[in-house]
Amino acid sequence: MARRKFVVGNWKMHGLHDQLPEIGAIAKAAADAPGIDTALCVPFTLIERAATVAGHMPIGAQDVHAAQKGAHTGCISAAMVREAGARLTLVGHSERRADQHETSHDAWAKAVAAHEAGLDVILCVGETEAEHDAGRAERVVQAQIEKSVPDLAQAGWFTLAYEPRWAIGTGRTPQPEDIAAMHAIARAKLRRMIGEQADAIRILYGGSVTGANAGDILSMDDVDGALVGGASLTADKFVPIIEAAS
Ligand code: G3H
Repeated sequence: MARRKFVVGNWKMHGLHDQLPEIGAIAKAAADAPGIDTALCVPFTLIERAATVAGHMPIGAQDVHAAQKGAHTGCISAAMVREAGARLTLVGHSERRADQHETSHDAWAKAVAAHEAGLDVILCVGETEAEHDAGRAERVVQAQIEKSVPDLAQAGWFTLAYEPRWAIGTGRTPQPEDIAAMHAIARAKLRRMIGEQADAIRILYGGSVTGANAGDILSMDDVDGALVGGASLTADKFVPIIEAAS
């Protein structure tokens, strides 16, 4: 099944207002690549202003709370980020699983809450280095998918991102055949859970994607795009990845 490529930047805890021109430049490159989808997930504090300079390129959040409102000091709901101008959000990113002890069930609840608030969702899964070295990557990723992908997931609003934790920010990437194999495993798991509509769901690869390796990674079977951290922070690094996907 033909799926449009999807390139998503994740600025993590980077970005002050003086970086807005970078978002404008990235948005221009996205507009020049109408054959693919591009989005940028920024810190909460940048969403509103980023949305004003991003043109048609969707701006996303990096997390939302699983509740729509309530007594959760310091937390942000899906409705809040939507009101600020976000059109999508990440959930279950490995840095939240590691730093905030989020579980796959938390990711599931956040995905459901985000969808109910009208946001598209990119749900992240991926094994640790220890799990990889122990030959457990396949089982770990399948279990994360089982526990975190909502039954109602559909391609119209849901994307899966496979990010081996040991490849994030390290400059190390899996062997091409290992990326292809894990994406095939993830899709087969999705198919068992939600049937043939899984074939329309995009599965992104994340972990040390750069302009230099994007062409090879994005040409693999079942790799429908990239979730890019460090190389999305400036237009000069991110635009070549957008171009490689086009
Ligand atoms: O969300 C993005 C990923 O964690 C990848 O980050 O491109 O800096 O390795 P990275």
